[in-house]
Amino acid sequence: MKVLLLGSGGREHAIARALLADPQVSELFVAPGNPGTAAIATNVSLDPLDGSAVAEWALAHGIDLAVIGPETPLVVGVADVLVAAGIPTFGPSAAAAHLEGSKAFAKEIMAAAGIPTAAAHVCRDLASVRAAMTEFGSPYVIKYDGLAAGKGVVVTADPEAALAHAESCLSLPGSQIVVEDYLDGPEVSLFCISDGETVVPLQPAQDFKRALDGDAGPNTGGMGAYSPLPWAPAGLVDEVVLQVAIPVIREMERRGIPFVGVLYCGLALTSRGTRVIEFNARFGDPETQVVLPRLATPLGSLLLAAAEGRLAEFGELEWRDRAAVTVVVAAEGYPGVSTLGGPVEGIEEAEAREGVHVIHAGTQMTPQGLVASGGRVLSVVGEGADLESARMRVYSGVDLISLHGSHHRRDIAQRAAEGH
Ligand code: AMP
Ligand code: GLY
Repeated sequence: MKVLLLGSGGREHAIARALLADPQVSELFVAPGNPGTAAIATNVSLDPLDGSAVAEWALAHGIDLAVIGPETPLVVGVADVLVAAGIPTFGPSAAAAHLEGSKAFAKEIMAAAGIPTAAAHVCRDLASVRAAMTEFGSPYVIKYDGLAAGKGVVVTADPEAALAHAESCLSLPGSQIVVEDYLDGPEVSLFCISDGETVVPLQPAQDFKRALDGDAGPNTGGMGAYSPLPWAPAGLVDEVVLQVAIPVIREMERRGIPFVGVLYCGLALTSRGTRVIEFNARFGDPETQVVLPRLATPLGSLLLAAAEGRLAEFGELEWRDRAAVTVVVAAEGYPGVSTLGGPVEGIEEAEAREGVHVIHAGTQMTPQGLVASGGRVLSVVGEGADLESARMRVYSGVDLISLHGSHHRRDIAQRAAEGH
């Protein structure tokens, strides 16, 4: 099987690695890819947002499966163009990706399907934001409706900061924001693969969204993750599939917009039960870096079955009995204005450690060597028999990476490894 993967981040490097472990995958192209994917697959210089160019290239190269990594090409309809060209495609249509592209739409689907989530109001002016804040109380949760690369949400006890975020979001033409009730409790990310009808869950992971240790600092795209979750209730995956994923897939089907791809369920396990925080229409970054190395089932065959509507025949997934932890090495200033261009060193040394591999997220190869080109630069992954061993391994790798001014969290998976 010849596969074309769209995207250039850490998630795509991790997907590429997993696809190549599938003996059915004979050739892998990544557009545009990054220096990490260049080392294991063939990077192609194509704009992932240009659906017609991607389709033309895929047809000319006999691609059997296209996999769309990031949300932006999904939301602009690249899957629609590929499917219309007859290319089996893993990733939802623009209409289905609206589940991620608009938080107000996601709330509407959840209401229609009876899915437990935070109470919310969609607001288009500051007066209604103020009213919603008074209704829900502190901490305030203010969300930009559209895509914002993990930076559109502010959760704060400070009403001025909440209003300032609302104001900056509303200053964009035609924008709306969602103000919602605060959900307390640990967060879980669960990826559900769907062909539009059948739902196959992967194993859950936990992401660390805040920039600093102890969950302090601003929200980011994700600073680290681990899987499995030894503390999670035994029936969690079944519960989320039955109460959340299947109802969403059915509601989308009923509206004539079947969802083919990854339904990423971002959940809060509150004292009043499991609640949906958000949906994404793609694999999470950096959770993918810890979920896919644990999946023993060949990924290319699974994604092709989803793209071709054959998931019902696919059977149970198989998992490796091991734990994985990833730690993101971020550039100075991230998630604010990041200092880019600094040399990145120590990857080979880190990868020489047992159970450690390094995923490229925001790097670029220059004549002077590898440099940082994005806020999240690397995602170092450690694998081991349990979380404690995976954690020791990942940090032994992180400590060998050098990038001037970079920062990372030291507490990824710590509480889970300590058994609480
Ligand atoms: P989102 O982009 O909707 O996933 O939000 C990003 C992060 O903001 C989430 O992972 C949570 O940590 C936090 N967050 C979002 N909504 C809520 C909520 N209703 N209550 C508490 N925290 C939230
Ligand atoms: N790690 C969160 C996300 O991918 O949206």
